[in-house]
Amino acid sequence: MQKILVLDFGGQYNQLIARRVRDLHIYAEIKPYNKITVDEIRQAGYAGVIFTGGPNSVYDPASPHYDPAILDAGIPILGICYGCQLIAYMAGGTVASAENSSEYGKIELTVDDDILFDNVPKTSVCWMSHRDYIPAPPEGFSVIASTDQCPVAAMCDESRKIYAVQFHPEVTHTEYGKQLLRNFLYSVCGCTGDWQMDSFIEDTVASLREQIGDKGVVLGLSGGVDSSVAAALLSKAVGRQLTCVFVDQGLMRKDEGDFVEQTFTDLFDMNFVRINCQEEFLSKLKGLTDPEDKRKVIGTEFYNVFWNKIREDYGSGFFAQGTIYPDRIESGKGDASKIKTHHNQVGVPQDIRFEGVIEPLKDLFKDEVRAVGEKLGLPHDLVWRQPFPGPGLGVRVIGEVTAERVRILQEADAILRDEMDKCGYAEKMSQFFAVLPGVKTVGVMGDERTYSELVAIRAVTTDDFMTADWAKIPYDILGRVSNRIINEVDRVNRVVYDITSKPPGTVEWE
Ligand code: XMP
Repeated sequence: MQKILVLDFGGQYNQLIARRVRDLHIYAEIKPYNKITVDEIRQAGYAGVIFTGGPNSVYDPASPHYDPAILDAGIPILGICYGCQLIAYMAGGTVASAENSSEYGKIELTVDDDILFDNVPKTSVCWMSHRDYIPAPPEGFSVIASTDQCPVAAMCDESRKIYAVQFHPEVTHTEYGKQLLRNFLYSVCGCTGDWQMDSFIEDTVASLREQIGDKGVVLGLSGGVDSSVAAALLSKAVGRQLTCVFVDQGLMRKDEGDFVEQTFTDLFDMNFVRINCQEEFLSKLKGLTDPEDKRKVIGTEFYNVFWNKIREDYGSGFFAQGTIYPDRIESGKGDASKIKTHHNQVGVPQDIRFEGVIEPLKDLFKDEVRAVGEKLGLPHDLVWRQPFPGPGLGVRVIGEVTAERVRILQEADAILRDEMDKCGYAEKMSQFFAVLPGVKTVGVMGDERTYSELVAIRAVTTDDFMTADWAKIPYDILGRVSNRIINEVDRVNRVVYDITSKPPGTVEWE
């Protein structure tokens, strides 16, 4: 399989670059610039290397640099933004900074006749975000694009197949960015587009079969996208040698536990083990109101229930989990960066000795995981499931979690989802759900005074969940949701809508 290296110099778009390459059917992986040498790049057999952008100026003492031997390694290179300036610098050229040469946003680009710009018009819009610029190309390079402010918007050394662009081809604001990347990958690097989800499934199934042999494999299934797709893939590979353990702590959405069970028992060949333990979880949560205490108890209880079951019945063979690529990516932003421990990766207790850990999705981005899930026949609702916090409704029932309060929230949330699905609005949201704030208010229903629970609706749009906007759901939809919740859910007499962005709010209330 051909592969491209995205050499990360701390730019904010490193994942986006790799995803764009993969969208063009070429496998790409990201490595921080200080974690791979030129020799290692050569040995790994990359078809090309893309230098990312980065926040620094090449003359900053703290700026990330790279071994100039890469320029003579015989591997095609595309430098983007900071990566472009770094190439100029490494090739002996200069990079300058001038107040009036910075460009931010959409800028008109004029290109020359060059292989990098095949099927790109003479003038088009590109996305710029830079203060430093290259006043003249270094020796051996020629200018192949410019803008009003930027004499070297793109340059190349054709003989060494080194290309560099000051703008960002990976963002959609660059009109012909995708075409440019295609030209680099296919025409310069000679890639043929062999990264396809069908062949990923076939290859992975074959290698899983070989690795697992006639042993057993056990997977913790949460009902989320990643573990569900991992389960489907493993089921295709080894059928009933796979055991999925699904801990239903009673804090999922209405009927969700049954839906997960039905999906995997009806559609896939595997042993499906469901542990119903709502009562145990509720008894541990009794009297707790502090969000962090609740999270800790739910996490610990989950860990104990899950591993006790595995220890009893499935503590040999292989252990599988749904780790995906973004869970593993290290960033090139400084040396302190570490792979973060993902909440889906549960450490194996020391006394359980598996033959190995299997992570069949570890090289895939989320959209690729979804594509695999769809090809394997998982239901649409599971593949496109919204994020759901590990502690489940435990952090949406504010204050003490009781069976009755979970029931109220599940009913209200189910109505919200039903209305959003019916009007086609659900797909426009990144995430939406109901919250039970634990506030009682006075109302009047019929001729009677009521003093009942308040339900809050939360809905957000976001690209990455680091920041989020509250969603502008039309009033008539909100009105229907409110009416139905008050009429259909016993002990609720008021509904409010959360209009807080993140920051300053968070998506969840706890
Ligand atoms: P916040 O509330 O931090 O949420 O703005 C951002 C995203 O993360 C989800 N979330 C969690 N997911 N375990 C998880 O697996 C958790 O403890 C947790 N807390 C929040 C949240 O639903 C949103 O999508």
